[in-house]
Amino acid sequence: MSTTSDQSGERFLPLSEPCLQGNEWQYVKECLDSGWISSVGAFVNRFEQRVAEYVGVKHAVATVNGTSALHAAMLTAGVEPGDEVLVSTLTFIATVNAIRYAGAHPVLIDSEPRYWQMDPQLVRDFLRRECRAEHGELRNRVTGRRVRAIMPVHVLGHPVDLPAITAEAEAFGLRLIEDAAESLGASLHWKKIGATSDLACLSFNGNKTITCGGGGMILTNSQSDADRARYLTTQAKDDAIEYIHNEVGYNYRMTNVLAAIGLAQLEQLDGFVQRRREIAAYYRGGLCGAGLTWHTDAPGASSTSWLSTALVDPVQAGVTACELRDQLQRSKIQTRRLWQPMHLSPAHQSAQAVLNGTADRLFEQALSFPSTPNLTDGDLDRVVQATGGVLRMRVRRAA
Ligand SMILES: Cc1ncc(COP(=O)(O)O)c(C=O)c1O
Repeated sequence: MSTTSDQSGERFLPLSEPCLQGNEWQYVKECLDSGWISSVGAFVNRFEQRVAEYVGVKHAVATVNGTSALHAAMLTAGVEPGDEVLVSTLTFIATVNAIRYAGAHPVLIDSEPRYWQMDPQLVRDFLRRECRAEHGELRNRVTGRRVRAIMPVHVLGHPVDLPAITAEAEAFGLRLIEDAAESLGASLHWKKIGATSDLACLSFNGNKTITCGGGGMILTNSQSDADRARYLTTQAKDDAIEYIHNEVGYNYRMTNVLAAIGLAQLEQLDGFVQRRREIAAYYRGGLCGAGLTWHTDAPGASSTSWLSTALVDPVQAGVTACELRDQLQRSKIQTRRLWQPMHLSPAHQSAQAVLNGTADRLFEQALSFPSTPNLTDGDLDRVVQATGGVLRMRVRRAA
């Protein structure tokens, strides 16, 4: 995929698309030349090992996509049918679907207003006020179901307040599974995201910071969890020669061709993250005030700035986020609202939700701007000028 121009010569500026500028061709050719194109091969092992080293975890298990990683992580964590899992209501639907695939029930937790991540105070309130301990397990007072895990999402690649949420998980004996689909390369207090909880899941979807076209990964420091994840994602094969399977497993393994692309992308990850962060800083510098409030990093946090996102205050800006999106589309600039929060989604609105109004406001007002690393400063200036024009604000022109 590439940004294309039309007769007017103006390029379409995409939100987030793959940048394939490294060793992708070479590594894929090596797969084709060797004949190792399927779900085993040296690139799968190398990709897993290099991601584990990069993040600082002991084990990595590659999967066909991030959604399958989340599903397998649920099962690996011991989430059983009828259990409950606390999860961010502000997320892409795959996170919550994975809980349902495991036969469990989501409890949807709202975001804190400052950095838009799962609100630790709401988690604390729910666990302390709405749950009770019974025979060594935690049960939801209303539903009577066992609460088994917490699954925060690092929304837009910005770290969740992990110390606070980890403390709650530990206090109540809950498993902690991070949806780190957007946050490979982010860190909190100098530790890479994905390194500290029971399990963390990555996505290498086409719009992510690095991509295989489609792919995912489960990260963990636990040998037994890694073994379990590998077993479940490989059809729960107990005897590869006799084809003995003692459980229902899944065909979730990544292929060698995809891992070859992923490895080449990983070699460029730091540069991609740096450029996404520069893009966010460029927008913040060029478009401040006049109804736009940009998402920024919390103290001690370093986001991937996966998508540069601002809140559009309709009163101050004179337009809603949707109107701004539609007007920028006419200038061939792609923007996107955040996801419909899960408590509003017809697929999940029957779930119990602990809300404070933040996700609703973000859904109304948040707009993500073009964040692809290979956008030039000239492209970013076009976004700034066009947005400033719609908002009738004075913007700084690039030198
Ligand atoms: C927060 C989040 N979770 C899960 C996923 C699902 O990953 P995949 O598309 O690789 O299945 C995505 C992105 O697609 C995501 O952004």
